[in-house]
Amino acid sequence: MSAPKIAIVYYSMYGHILKLADTMSATLTKAGCSVKTLQVQETLPENVLEMMHAPPKADHPIATPEDLVEADGVLFGIPTRFGMAPAQMKAFMDMTGQLWGQQKLLGKPAGIFFSTASMGGGQETTALTFVTQLTHHGMVFVPLGFPHPGQSNLDEVHGGSAYGAGTLAGGDGSRMPSELELSIAEMQATNFAKIVKKLAAKDEE
Ligand SMILES: Cc1cc2nc3c(=O)[nH]c(=O)nc-3n(C[C@H](O)[C@H](O)[C@H](O)COP(=O)(O)O)c2cc1C
Repeated sequence: MSAPKIAIVYYSMYGHILKLADTMSATLTKAGCSVKTLQVQETLPENVLEMMHAPPKADHPIATPEDLVEADGVLFGIPTRFGMAPAQMKAFMDMTGQLWGQQKLLGKPAGIFFSTASMGGGQETTALTFVTQLTHHGMVFVPLGFPHPGQSNLDEVHGGSAYGAGTLAGGDGSRMPSELELSIAEMQATNFAKIVKKLAAKDEE
Protein backbone atom coordinates (compact mmCIF):
# COMPACT_ATOMS: atom_id res chain seq x y z
CA MET A 1 0.00 0.00 0.00
CA SER A 2 1.04 3.63 -0.42
CA ALA A 3 2.46 5.55 2.57
CA PRO A 4 -0.32 6.24 5.08
CA LYS A 5 -1.24 9.92 5.18
CA ILE A 6 -1.39 11.42 8.65
CA ALA A 7 -2.50 14.95 9.45
CA ILE A 8 -1.38 16.53 12.72
CA VAL A 9 -3.85 19.33 13.41
CA TYR A 10 -2.90 21.51 16.34
CA TYR A 11 -3.27 24.81 18.12
CA SER A 12 -0.38 26.19 20.14
CA MET A 13 -0.04 29.60 21.71
CA TYR A 14 3.32 29.25 23.50
CA GLY A 15 4.99 26.37 21.65
CA HIS A 16 4.39 23.36 23.92
CA ILE A 17 1.90 21.59 21.68
CA LEU A 18 4.00 22.70 18.72
CA LYS A 19 7.02 20.87 20.15
CA LEU A 20 5.00 17.68 20.65
CA ALA A 21 3.53 18.03 17.13
CA ASP A 22 6.96 18.44 15.51
CA THR A 23 8.32 15.48 17.50
CA MET A 24 5.42 13.26 16.44
CA SER A 25 5.78 14.42 12.84
CA ALA A 26 9.46 13.42 12.80
CA THR A 27 8.62 9.98 14.24
CA LEU A 28 5.85 9.41 11.71
CA THR A 29 8.06 10.48 8.80
CA LYS A 30 10.74 8.05 9.99
CA ALA A 31 8.08 5.31 10.09
CA GLY A 32 7.35 5.91 6.39
CA CYS A 33 4.16 7.96 6.74
CA SER A 34 3.32 10.99 4.68
CA VAL A 35 2.76 13.71 7.30
CA LYS A 36 1.12 17.12 7.15
CA THR A 37 1.53 19.29 10.24
CA LEU A 38 -1.17 21.94 10.24
CA GLN A 39 -2.25 24.62 12.68
CA VAL A 40 -5.81 25.79 13.10
CA GLN A 41 -6.65 29.40 12.40
CA GLU A 42 -6.10 31.86 15.27
CA THR A 43 -9.35 33.54 16.32
CA LEU A 44 -8.11 36.01 18.95
CA PRO A 45 -7.52 39.62 17.92
CA GLU A 46 -3.91 40.80 17.60
CA ASN A 47 -4.15 43.15 20.62
CA VAL A 48 -5.34 40.29 22.85
CA LEU A 49 -2.50 38.05 21.64
CA GLU A 50 -0.10 40.86 22.49
CA MET A 51 -1.53 41.19 26.01
CA MET A 52 -1.13 37.41 26.39
CA HIS A 53 2.54 37.70 25.31
CA ALA A 54 1.93 35.18 22.53
CA PRO A 55 5.02 34.74 20.31
CA PRO A 56 4.67 34.65 16.50
CA LYS A 57 3.12 31.48 15.09
CA ALA A 58 5.14 28.68 13.50
CA ASP A 59 5.04 28.55 9.73
CA HIS A 60 2.93 25.38 9.44
CA PRO A 61 0.03 25.84 6.99
CA ILE A 62 -3.49 26.55 8.24
CA ALA A 63 -5.66 23.43 8.45
CA THR A 64 -8.77 23.15 6.30
CA PRO A 65 -11.60 20.61 6.63
CA GLU A 66 -10.41 19.05 3.35
CA ASP A 67 -7.12 18.14 5.08
CA LEU A 68 -9.12 15.83 7.38
CA VAL A 69 -10.76 14.14 4.41
CA GLU A 70 -7.44 13.56 2.65
CA ALA A 71 -5.73 12.01 5.70
CA ASP A 72 -5.91 8.33 6.61
CA GLY A 73 -5.61 9.35 10.27
CA VAL A 74 -5.58 12.56 12.29
CA LEU A 75 -3.72 13.51 15.47
CA PHE A 76 -5.18 16.53 17.26
CA GLY A 77 -2.83 18.63 19.44
CA ILE A 78 -4.79 20.55 22.05
CA PRO A 79 -3.62 22.95 24.78
CA THR A 80 -6.14 23.04 27.63
CA ARG A 81 -8.41 26.03 28.21
CA PHE A 82 -10.44 25.71 31.41
CA GLY A 83 -10.28 21.92 31.27
CA MET A 84 -11.18 21.55 27.61
CA ALA A 85 -10.10 22.42 24.04
CA PRO A 86 -9.53 26.07 23.12
CA ALA A 87 -12.11 27.94 21.04
CA GLN A 88 -9.65 28.02 18.14
CA MET A 89 -9.80 24.21 17.88
CA LYS A 90 -13.58 24.22 18.30
CA ALA A 91 -13.90 26.90 15.59
CA PHE A 92 -12.00 24.56 13.28
CA MET A 93 -14.28 21.64 14.13
CA ASP A 94 -17.28 23.91 13.60
CA MET A 95 -16.16 24.25 9.97
CA THR A 96 -16.64 20.51 9.43
CA GLY A 97 -20.46 20.48 9.28
CA GLN A 98 -20.46 19.72 5.58
CA LEU A 99 -18.12 16.78 6.13
CA TRP A 100 -20.52 15.52 8.79
CA GLY A 101 -23.43 15.92 6.36
CA GLN A 102 -21.57 13.80 3.82
CA GLN A 103 -20.17 11.40 6.45
CA LYS A 104 -16.69 11.99 5.09
CA LEU A 105 -14.86 11.26 8.34
CA LEU A 106 -16.76 8.09 9.28
CA GLY A 107 -14.37 5.38 10.49
CA LYS A 108 -11.25 7.56 10.29
CA PRO A 109 -8.82 6.97 13.18
CA ALA A 110 -7.99 9.94 15.41
CA GLY A 111 -5.70 10.46 18.40
CA ILE A 112 -5.33 13.34 20.83
CA PHE A 113 -2.37 14.88 22.66
CA PHE A 114 -2.53 17.78 25.04
CA SER A 115 -0.84 20.31 27.30
CA THR A 116 -1.86 21.92 30.57
CA ALA A 117 -0.16 24.40 32.85
CA SER A 118 -0.32 22.09 35.84
CA MET A 119 -0.99 18.60 37.10
CA GLY A 120 -4.72 18.24 37.67
CA GLY A 121 -5.21 21.07 35.16
CA GLY A 122 -7.41 18.98 32.89
CA GLN A 123 -5.31 16.72 30.66
CA GLU A 124 -7.88 13.92 30.71
CA THR A 125 -10.95 16.18 30.63
CA THR A 126 -9.48 17.91 27.57
CA ALA A 127 -9.17 14.58 25.76
CA LEU A 128 -12.51 13.23 26.94
CA THR A 129 -14.51 16.35 26.08
CA PHE A 130 -12.89 16.39 22.62
CA VAL A 131 -14.03 12.81 22.04
CA THR A 132 -17.55 14.21 21.45
CA GLN A 133 -16.24 15.88 18.27
CA LEU A 134 -14.77 12.61 17.02
CA THR A 135 -17.81 10.59 18.02
CA HIS A 136 -20.30 12.74 16.14
CA HIS A 137 -18.20 12.31 13.02
CA GLY A 138 -17.97 8.56 13.62
CA MET A 139 -14.19 8.83 13.86
CA VAL A 140 -12.39 6.05 15.73
CA PHE A 141 -10.67 7.34 18.86
CA VAL A 142 -7.29 5.67 19.24
CA PRO A 143 -6.09 6.18 22.81
CA LEU A 144 -2.48 5.79 23.88
CA GLY A 145 -3.13 3.22 26.61
CA PHE A 146 -0.14 2.46 28.83
CA PRO A 147 2.51 1.02 26.45
CA HIS A 148 5.41 3.18 27.71
CA PRO A 149 7.05 2.12 31.01
CA GLY A 150 7.77 5.80 31.74
CA GLN A 151 4.06 6.53 31.99
CA SER A 152 4.07 4.94 35.44
CA ASN A 153 7.22 6.77 36.55
CA LEU A 154 6.48 8.42 39.89
CA ASP A 155 10.01 9.78 40.39
CA GLU A 156 9.55 12.45 37.77
CA VAL A 157 6.73 14.91 37.14
CA HIS A 158 5.28 14.35 33.68
CA GLY A 159 2.18 14.89 31.59
CA GLY A 160 0.25 12.45 29.44
CA SER A 161 -2.12 9.63 30.29
CA ALA A 162 -3.88 6.66 28.73
CA TYR A 163 -5.77 9.17 26.58
CA GLY A 164 -2.66 10.50 24.86
CA ALA A 165 0.74 12.13 25.23
CA GLY A 166 0.87 15.36 27.18
CA THR A 167 3.10 17.96 28.69
CA LEU A 168 3.00 20.31 31.65
CA ALA A 169 3.84 23.87 30.63
CA GLY A 170 4.02 25.41 34.11
CA GLY A 171 1.97 28.37 35.30
CA ASP A 172 4.21 30.81 33.42
CA GLY A 173 4.72 28.51 30.42
CA SER A 174 8.44 28.19 31.12
CA ARG A 175 8.57 24.40 31.27
CA MET A 176 9.02 22.78 27.84
CA PRO A 177 8.22 19.09 27.14
CA SER A 178 10.67 16.82 28.97
CA GLU A 179 12.62 13.94 27.42
CA LEU A 180 10.15 11.52 28.99
CA GLU A 181 7.12 13.38 27.63
CA LEU A 182 8.69 13.53 24.18
CA SER A 183 9.47 9.83 24.23
CA ILE A 184 5.85 9.06 25.21
CA ALA A 185 4.72 11.29 22.31
CA GLU A 186 7.00 9.35 19.97
CA MET A 187 5.45 6.10 21.14
CA GLN A 188 1.95 7.46 20.61
CA ALA A 189 2.90 8.46 17.05
CA THR A 190 4.44 5.05 16.33
CA ASN A 191 1.47 3.10 17.66
CA PHE A 192 -1.02 5.41 15.96
CA ALA A 193 0.75 4.89 12.62
CA LYS A 194 0.49 1.10 13.03
CA ILE A 195 -3.28 1.33 13.53
CA VAL A 196 -3.72 3.77 10.66
CA LYS A 197 -1.77 1.41 8.39
CA LYS A 198 -3.91 -1.57 9.43
CA LEU A 199 -7.19 0.29 8.87
CA ALA A 200 -6.01 1.80 5.57
CA ALA A 201 -4.99 -1.68 4.34
CA LYS A 202 -8.44 -3.04 5.27
CA ASP A 203 -10.08 -0.19 3.32
CA GLU A 204 -8.09 -1.24 0.24
CA GLU A 205 -9.29 -4.88 0.51
C1 LIG B 1 -7.55 31.17 28.89
C2 LIG B 1 -6.64 30.07 29.35
C3 LIG B 1 -7.17 29.01 30.07
C4 LIG B 1 -6.34 27.99 30.52
N1 LIG B 1 -6.90 26.95 31.23
C5 LIG B 1 -6.08 26.03 31.76
C6 LIG B 1 -6.62 24.96 32.55
O1 LIG B 1 -7.83 24.80 32.72
N2 LIG B 1 -5.74 24.09 33.11
C7 LIG B 1 -4.40 24.21 32.96
O2 LIG B 1 -3.64 23.42 33.53
N3 LIG B 1 -3.87 25.17 32.16
C8 LIG B 1 -4.68 26.06 31.56
N4 LIG B 1 -4.15 27.03 30.76
C9 LIG B 1 -2.72 26.97 30.39
C10 LIG B 1 -2.57 26.36 28.99
O3 LIG B 1 -3.10 25.07 28.95
C11 LIG B 1 -1.10 26.36 28.58
O4 LIG B 1 -0.73 27.70 28.35
C12 LIG B 1 -0.90 25.52 27.33
O5 LIG B 1 -1.10 24.17 27.61
C13 LIG B 1 0.48 25.69 26.74
O6 LIG B 1 0.50 25.05 25.49
P1 LIG B 1 0.91 25.85 24.18
O7 LIG B 1 2.23 26.48 24.47
O8 LIG B 1 1.01 24.83 23.10
O9 LIG B 1 -0.16 26.87 23.90
C14 LIG B 1 -4.95 28.04 30.26
C15 LIG B 1 -4.42 29.09 29.51
C16 LIG B 1 -5.26 30.10 29.05
C17 LIG B 1 -4.67 31.21 28.24
